[in-house]
Amino acid sequence: MTFSSLKNYGTMESTAVNNDSSNNIGPGKGFLNLLKRIWYHLLVLFIGGKWSLIETFTRHRKLQDDETHQRVRAETAVITGGARGIGAEVVRQCLQLNMHVIIGCRKPSAGETLIQKLRDEGVSSGTAEALPLDLNSLNSVRDFAQCILNKNVPVHYLLNNAGVMFHPFQLTTDGIEAQFQTNYLSHFLLTNLLLPALNQGGQSDKPSRVINVSSAAQYGGQLDFNNIDMKHEHSPHMAYMSSKLMQVISTVDLNRRFQEKKMNVRIYALHPGVVRTDLYEHVCWVNFFGRLLNVMFKTPEQGADGIMFVAVSQNVSADGGTFYANCTQQAVNPLAFNRDVQDRLYNISTDLCQLNSSETTASKSCSENITLELNK
Ligand SMILES: NC(=O)c1ccc[n+]([C@@H]2O[C@H](COP(=O)([O-])OP(=O)(O)OC[C@H]3O[C@@H](n4cnc5c(N)ncnc54)[C@H](OP(=O)(O)O)[C@@H]3O)[C@@H](O)[C@H]2O)c1
Repeated sequence: MTFSSLKNYGTMESTAVNNDSSNNIGPGKGFLNLLKRIWYHLLVLFIGGKWSLIETFTRHRKLQDDETHQRVRAETAVITGGARGIGAEVVRQCLQLNMHVIIGCRKPSAGETLIQKLRDEGVSSGTAEALPLDLNSLNSVRDFAQCILNKNVPVHYLLNNAGVMFHPFQLTTDGIEAQFQTNYLSHFLLTNLLLPALNQGGQSDKPSRVINVSSAAQYGGQLDFNNIDMKHEHSPHMAYMSSKLMQVISTVDLNRRFQEKKMNVRIYALHPGVVRTDLYEHVCWVNFFGRLLNVMFKTPEQGADGIMFVAVSQNVSADGGTFYANCTQQAVNPLAFNRDVQDRLYNISTDLCQLNSSETTASKSCSENITLELNK
């Protein structure tokens, strides 16, 4: 399927779904469009500010030793974007739990540098390796997944962490808007491709876990099935909020599909906190005020605490399909429970990723001997 054929999905209505679109590619022109972009900018500022305030006045919670399943010995975790930011601290904590960590990053040398740095800092347990992964290319995602499947090892945790925020309008090598593909679509593809290894890593009483690192920004997200990646009349702020909302919708949807197929895999989403990282490179006032704003932010280590809690704590809902912040289950955007929206997003995503029938969640069941045919 080519991206242009996406318009075929815009025929069904959903109350909260915005079906207004035009043929403008990129930011778009016009006074109304300008007002919309200003509104989306203010909306995401309001949501971020609100969560930052809540986090400032709420005690930071982290995984306690007695919350960890025994199974975290000799397990495998796959993480995207693990070479810096919050992901680098997640890698540290996975190693401290003696896991084997596979870091997917654009430059494997950056992952190797991180591993060496952690060793130099005294983290001696666990093992790690870095493999090339560029989420801006669906082929790269397939190569990364195939590389892991070729190892023929069970995967216990998939941490879909990599992301970009308020990225100026840009198309990927697949001709898809970059925030949509990086934050949502490529992670959707990776999750589906790794299902055989994840299912192998899970047991009926201890399923493997997929963690979608979403954001509180999901609460402001909208979906327009005529313009799913906001390629037309692009707003960097709404594109971010929507991509984070899609991660949450997909979390609820895929989790249900896993359960229906009796797979030993559960999927969760979370907000890691408002964390001071390079994610804010496109937010000029954060860079302008520098360290003065540090009181508003969590550290990358604190951001990683929330991810590790959802990955390994016994106190996380065994059923999956839930959203966490500061190690506490939170409400999700009501759109995530709309079956029509779930199905449309799932169908668009499988088509865009060109997932064949043997690769999609719907075709797998626990009793099947799952083998992937990655012939595109
Ligand atoms: N920081 C916050 O306040 C905050 C709040 C809510 C949610 N989050 C979410 O938390 C996650 C981690 O964010 P962060 O704060 O750690 O950001 P960060 O410091 O900017 O790190 C982003 C990571 O994503 C990777 N990445 C970006 N584009 C990629 C691509 N095309 N292919 C492969 N990897 C790519 C980067 O790898 P390279 O080194 O190759 O660029 C980097 O490792 C994101 O999903 C973000 O949306 C963060």
